[in-house]
Amino acid sequence: MPTLTFHGHSCFVLEHGGKRVIFDPFLSGNPKADVKPADLPHLDGVLVTHGHADHLGDAVAIAKQHAATLVAPYELALYCGDRGVEDANGMGIGGSREFPFGHVKLVAAVHGGVVEGEASGGKGGYTSFPCGFVVAMGGQRVYHAGDTALTLDMQLLEGQVDVMCVPIGDHYTMGPEDAARAVGFVKPRVAIPMHFGTFPAIDTDPKRFQSAVGARAEVVVLQPGQSYSF
Ligand code: NI
Ligand code: MN
Repeated sequence: MPTLTFHGHSCFVLEHGGKRVIFDPFLSGNPKADVKPADLPHLDGVLVTHGHADHLGDAVAIAKQHAATLVAPYELALYCGDRGVEDANGMGIGGSREFPFGHVKLVAAVHGGVVEGEASGGKGGYTSFPCGFVVAMGGQRVYHAGDTALTLDMQLLEGQVDVMCVPIGDHYTMGPEDAARAVGFVKPRVAIPMHFGTFPAIDTDPKRFQSAVGARAEVVVLQPGQSYSF
């Protein structure tokens, strides 16, 4: 039975059968993070949707510390490889691959692509397409949407997703109502809101999302540190 543990903002650890991957490990500098990078359990994979600082976060350091497989859009993986990540897998939107921890597919996200990080002087040295991930582990499929607008492309995921992690914070991504429409497109069994409440600009109420989703899916709101098994 796979388990998702929320660590604040858009960071989750997905675990099944002794394998673990982390999505968008923004922990240092995240006021809502419940763990420090050094306190994470062993990780096999590090999945990064795009290069903004609140997603790339500690990914390079964590991938090196755990000798983990990093998966990201192509240019972002190059950036991480240039900074010492040995197993940096750059993939393209629409591509998929079987890794030892599970199957990973990159899907479209409508958002920005600059890579922010201290190694580039905070200015961003690369740009890349942002992505979402569909990860299959233990017979369950998790869609981590990254940062994105509502897009009709999400209809292509209908029937392919069990659990959907969806941004609801508005301002930089979908707000609660668009996020609920996204759930209507994808039709997951369970929707977990993310990317809200970390900063004042994205301080939306997950109850708005929950009521907008209605009966379309079960909404599970996780506080940092809480887990959900499915
Ligand atoms: Ni972003
Ligand atoms: Mn973001």
